[in-house]
Amino acid sequence: MIIARTLQELRDAREALGPVGLVPTMGALHEGHLALIAAARVAGQPAAASIFVNPTQFGPKEDFNHYPRDEAGDLAKLESAGCALVWMPSVEVMYPPHGATTIHVNGPAQHWEGAARPGHFAGVATVVAKLFGQVRPEAAYFGEKDWQQVQVVSRMVADLHLPVRIVPVPTVRENNGLAMSSRNAYLTPEERKAAPILHAALTHAAKEIVAGKQVAETLHHARHEVAQAGIIPDYIALVHAETLDPIPALTHPARLIAAAKLGRVRLLDNIPV
Ligand code: PAF
Repeated sequence: MIIARTLQELRDAREALGPVGLVPTMGALHEGHLALIAAARVAGQPAAASIFVNPTQFGPKEDFNHYPRDEAGDLAKLESAGCALVWMPSVEVMYPPHGATTIHVNGPAQHWEGAARPGHFAGVATVVAKLFGQVRPEAAYFGEKDWQQVQVVSRMVADLHLPVRIVPVPTVRENNGLAMSSRNAYLTPEERKAAPILHAALTHAAKEIVAGKQVAETLHHARHEVAQAGIIPDYIALVHAETLDPIPALTHPARLIAAAKLGRVRLLDNIPV
């Protein structure tokens, strides 16, 4: 496994590898990330992963300084997952002085996480576009756990005609249904017991909606169910799966999306309907 930390090291490694599938990450790797590496390898290309905790996608009051970091552990996991290249730029390499360009995103970036975390998706889109320019992957793999992020990145790639194929990969869950996330590391043992209720509430609501129950009422019940477990729902919504616009009744393609606060963790989840 090649580790590149400078643009020159990355260029040398890329010349040796040919077309690659890129898995962009912020480190603190878990089974969900490894499923992305596996998906890239199954597609028959060498897998490249990037590890970069991107400051521009964190709000001023968010956890950038405390975001879980485990370089040695991450590299060991990537190595045993068969990753061919790890791109680990510093903040100075990613954002050189005098940089003056950011990507402004609208459409699927407007609501939900975009409203709760102003500037977040501009930071994500900008760093992902930079990663695509640096690594020049043929395909890039993103976890569906961040459904809105996948739609924002797909929209950006289509709008800017970027020559990369976006491959969404299904969410990896713990046995109890909790979606894997690096930030789950912040949950106390007590909170870990409550956290799977978010996924259970979504699954229940999806069944009700498919069975023809009124959407607004079903979503109201789901929020109540989650709140009863001590999880503070921010939103639980039925949306168009690509535009992320809320939909009042079931039409396709639809997705149930949710965000909720448990202790200091913002839990995100979503499922198809
Ligand atoms: O999903 C993430 O970990 C990040 O948002 C990403 C895509 C690596 C961009 O920093």
